[in-house]
Amino acid sequence: MQKTWGKLAEELAPYRFEDMVPLAPITTDVWNVDWKIAMDNYLESYHVPIGHPGLYRMFTPDYEDQASVPGVARGLSWMREQLSSRWSERMYQKLIVKAAGHLPEPLRRCWRFYSALPNLGIDVFPDQMDFFQLLPGGPGKCIVRGTTFGLPDPSPALRAARFLSNRINTQVNNEDKWLCGRVQRGLASGSYKPGPLSNIEGWMHEFHNLLRERIPEFRLPQAPKQFA
Ligand SMILES: [Fe+2]
Repeated sequence: MQKTWGKLAEELAPYRFEDMVPLAPITTDVWNVDWKIAMDNYLESYHVPIGHPGLYRMFTPDYEDQASVPGVARGLSWMREQLSSRWSERMYQKLIVKAAGHLPEPLRRCWRFYSALPNLGIDVFPDQMDFFQLLPGGPGKCIVRGTTFGLPDPSPALRAARFLSNRINTQVNNEDKWLCGRVQRGLASGSYKPGPLSNIEGWMHEFHNLLRERIPEFRLPQAPKQFA
């Protein structure tokens, strides 16, 4: 990990991944989208204010994207002082600073999202962490496989924070699934024009360059006949 993740491995040290245990069995979920679309979604954070209203209620929009090492995208979100109007989000905001006493204070207010090319995601929360892999399942289909890990013997406060975190992130996951489905339909609509749309899509650009390098068909101006 140190070799690939470089400095990022150092910033993750306080979370003590090596002491963590699985909190749930590995799950798989089928998304009706190309795996590339799902990965594109995890490589930028500017869809959050529109796509994830819950996250936007809890976190400021300073995502600290792009400051990273080659091949690993990172986004950091910082919790707002202002409490969310929604119960589970508000309870989490109130609880987490006390519940995550094992971390230095600033890290208790930070959610961290990492995406390692080509298909691995790692989310690091003060209460737990998760990983997910995006596995190709054929045209228009992919499998999202992952689970969560946390430090053993949680206090009641940490246990409650994990419950709330799971509830909030289940919603976020459903929103991403819905958003990606919309992108998939947009690509098939005939009016799609390739990006990049913005200079804050640097990681998406690197991802697409990697695909062009590794998959010859990716360099074709049109989809191969069997997929057209
Ligand atoms: Fe998202």
